[in-house]
Amino acid sequence: MKILVLGPGAREHAIVLALLAESADHQIVCAPGNAGVAASGVEVAALDYTDPAAVTPFVTERGFDLVIIGPEAPLVAGVADPLRAAGIAVFGPDQAAAALEGSKAFAKRIMDEANVPTGRAVQVTSVADAAGVLDEFGAPYVVKADGLAAGKGVLVTTDRDAALEHVATWAPKGDVLVEEFLDGQEVSLFFLADGHNVLPLSPAQDYKRIFDGDEGPNTGGMGAYSPLPWVADDFVEEITRDVAIPTVRQLESEGTPFVGLLYCGLIVTSKGVRVIEFNARFGDPETQVVLARMESPLSEYLLATAEGRLADLPAPTFSPDPAVIVVVASEGYPETAATGREITGLAEAEAVAGVHVVHAATERGEDGSWVSTGGRVLGVVARGADFAEARSRAYEAVGHISLEGSQHRTDIAARVVK
Ligand code: AMP
Ligand code: GLY
Repeated sequence: MKILVLGPGAREHAIVLALLAESADHQIVCAPGNAGVAASGVEVAALDYTDPAAVTPFVTERGFDLVIIGPEAPLVAGVADPLRAAGIAVFGPDQAAAALEGSKAFAKRIMDEANVPTGRAVQVTSVADAAGVLDEFGAPYVVKADGLAAGKGVLVTTDRDAALEHVATWAPKGDVLVEEFLDGQEVSLFFLADGHNVLPLSPAQDYKRIFDGDEGPNTGGMGAYSPLPWVADDFVEEITRDVAIPTVRQLESEGTPFVGLLYCGLIVTSKGVRVIEFNARFGDPETQVVLARMESPLSEYLLATAEGRLADLPAPTFSPDPAVIVVVASEGYPETAATGREITGLAEAEAVAGVHVVHAATERGEDGSWVSTGGRVLGVVARGADFAEARSRAYEAVGHISLEGSQHRTDIAARVVK
């Protein structure tokens, strides 16, 4: 199959590696990809991947059988729309359905219409408005800016003044939601959605805060593991029935079918599972552990999704062996990121049994050395016969990597190792 993967990061590297593992016959291009993707032997192409006017001619000239859109920015910018209109198989929703991620207010309305369990939320337009709602819901306070804010739009705090200040910062730029605080373990569960039917992947848990013990600011994700030994046996079935199907059917009935990956961000509360957010694409870094365990052929499932044929396929299967990812980030991340620093020890890290490394933000120096270019730099993925083995392999490999000032969490998957 001729496949184009759009996006620059570790999630796209993981998708490419899964496609390579599945078949040596695929012709894969990743745009823009990164130096790690290129080092995996895949063609990378410079392309403004968020601009429909740049992507469409590239795809039609090169003649791809399947286009997989990785990040949210091109989806929200409408990159899928003209491709799908031209009859090309695209994994990733049109702009209208991508609003499920692009607008929290839109997502809340869809959940309300579809009776999907989620936290109570009230849209506020001013600080005065917000104060009453904060007091009604009580602490901890959750304030969310509408629209894509690269992880900076959500504030969870016990400080009422900080919550009001967040409203003051974001209200002039768009809608702001005050939401009830939901207490419990977080789960990321992905569904392939072909506009009408869905098939679940295997659940994962993401570590969003920068420091051990879930301290410090939110990040794009500092690590993850899969599967989740602590969820109920019928967890996936329940979320399929109560969340994924009603959401996809609601979008279909509104004339905005969702074709791509429905990312359900969930909290398991004492009163049941609640949706905290939807995303319209694979999660990063959860994808790196979910795809590492997937046994079914990824390209066939993504193509069937794009072509509306999920009813013909059984649910994809996953290895029972767990996978753990530890993200290596730059000094200063998430506020800033020290870049341009040399990275060594990658070969030693990848020599650890069961380990591979995905690249988020690296480039090659002229001498072939590796250099950091962003906040989250690398992801060290390890599989093992059990969580103890996967986790110790991941940390052994991380120990081989040197990057001045780098940060990583030391407690990824600790809660599932007995
Ligand atoms: P979001 O961008 O909506 O995923 O929010 C980022 C993070 O904030 C989530 O992963 C949760 O850890 C936290 N969060 C969001 N909404 C809530 C909520 N209603 N209650 C508790 N924590 C939340
Ligand atoms: N890991 C969180 C996300 O992809 O949004």
